[in-house]
Amino acid sequence: MIALVTGAGRGLGLEFARQLAARGATVFGTVRRDGEALDALGVTALRLDVADPASIAAFATDLAARVDRVDLLINNAGINSRGVPEGQRNVRWGALEPEGILRMVQVNAVGPVLVTQALAPLLKPGARVLSISSWLGSIQRKTSGGNYGYCASKTTLNMLARAMAFDLAEQGVISVVANPGWVRTDMGGARAALTPDQSVSGLLALVDQLTPAHTGGFYQWDGTEHPW
Ligand SMILES: NC(=O)c1ccc[n+]([C@@H]2O[C@H](COP(=O)([O-])OP(=O)(O)OC[C@H]3O[C@@H](n4cnc5c(N)ncnc54)[C@H](OP(=O)(O)O)[C@@H]3O)[C@@H](O)[C@H]2O)c1
Repeated sequence: MIALVTGAGRGLGLEFARQLAARGATVFGTVRRDGEALDALGVTALRLDVADPASIAAFATDLAARVDRVDLLINNAGINSRGVPEGQRNVRWGALEPEGILRMVQVNAVGPVLVTQALAPLLKPGARVLSISSWLGSIQRKTSGGNYGYCASKTTLNMLARAMAFDLAEQGVISVVANPGWVRTDMGGARAALTPDQSVSGLLALVDQLTPAHTGGFYQWDGTEHPW
């Protein structure tokens, strides 16, 4: 199996790379800076900034020169409000501004879909695409104010990825979005409920049992359906 994980230098992405490599897969992990953590796992690090279309194009060319197919693409790279400068975090009504909202949508929603589109020629029938969303992108689960940019970016990802899933289905590719749960990473923080191992084990079990009937679905890390 040939797997590609975006944002693989730390957090959930690094754990995806670790578990996939341990299964014997050939794994490529993308990084924005150095790929030392991946070298230690025998995972090939490739440069990618998902917010930069030129970087996506160069990355796709680089990957296509190395492999003729990708069996599993995991769109994991993402930022929350702490990934944008203070003053652009859009966590509070009365302090909203455009830059932070648009940056989060660019990285978390537009990026994964453009990466997948660029890699589409490598996605052969039977390939799977897992895009990492969040419960914070669920409109049904949104019952309080605040966190405008991040929540909207994941809701946008859900819709873009759902449209993409039906287009990919025409080439025999199964594509879904999933909530990893609240996980102990730089983003999730030390008080989070799940270890990266627990979340990624659940998500890879979901990937293992995907069929065309799952196309365009939104799932929990434990494989159950997630409300939209
Ligand atoms: N942890 C949670 O509780 C939780 C909950 C719900 C959803 N999620 C989602 O799960 C995914 C992984 O989160 P995490 O907890 O592992 O976060 P993390 O520890 O903050 O890691 C984020 C990863 O994304 C990469 N990244 C950020 N911006 C990028 C860009 N423009 N281009 C390429 N890579 C970029 C980072 O690379 P650098 O090292 O170069 O910054 C890093 O590898 C994200 O999509 C996140 O929204 C996490």
